[in-house]
Amino acid sequence: MFISFEGIDGSGKSTQARLLAEALHAAGIDVIHTREPGGSPGAEEIRALVLEGDPDRWSAETEILLFTAARRDHLEKTIRPALASGKVVICDRFADSTRVFQGVTRGDLQDKVNRLHDEMIGVEPDLTLLFDMDPEIGLSRAKGRQTSEERFEDFGLEFQEKCRAAFLALARQYPRFTVIDAARDIELVAEEVATLVKTRLGA
Ligand SMILES: Nc1ncnc2c1ncn2[C@@H]1O[C@H](COP(=O)(O)OP(=O)(O)OP(=O)(O)O)[C@@H](O)[C@H]1O
Ligand SMILES: [Mg+2]
Repeated sequence: MFISFEGIDGSGKSTQARLLAEALHAAGIDVIHTREPGGSPGAEEIRALVLEGDPDRWSAETEILLFTAARRDHLEKTIRPALASGKVVICDRFADSTRVFQGVTRGDLQDKVNRLHDEMIGVEPDLTLLFDMDPEIGLSRAKGRQTSEERFEDFGLEFQEKCRAAFLALARQYPRFTVIDAARDIELVAEEVATLVKTRLGA
């Protein structure tokens, strides 16, 4: 089972992905926890290019290519081998983040994103959890961390508002989505996520 975690910056994806991986591991389920951009040595090198530096360092079009290159490497080296050996794959962001960040919020590029995705990636998660919340809170959470990976946070609040709406639109379009209210306490969210995934796994 391939599960992706999606949502705006600071919505708690990385926190919840870690907690779910721990919960599944404790239940004796073979799981890997990986992330995008990154998740394989080559893709982690691309990560620094896209997440650090000036917001206008890359155009949306150039980003689509960089993210897709990173995703292809991640798929080849990490995701496919893990699924083939029967593991549950928890992926912190996947193609929906590209659909939103590069495809919708800076001009109407979603068609290009989808065509490149179909050509080069061609897989979707079995389940996508959308961590939905007010971007103002998300951005203040995200800004509270000490990190140099703030290129997208630096696009500002209005950008994050557009992202939220675009993620919710994808959730209406694709039945693989489940929307999670991410504004609640960490433990409450984690409990809902673990129950949902264990039910799907029949565990
Ligand atoms: N439910 C929550 N309530 C309060 N704080 C939270 C909650 N979930 C996460 N946090 C805190 O908010 C910050 C952002 O969380 P996290 O890094 O998990 O978000 P993210 O969605 O992975 O962000 P990004 O998209 O930037 O990677 C962290 O400092 C985390 O400890
Ligand atoms: Mg994160």
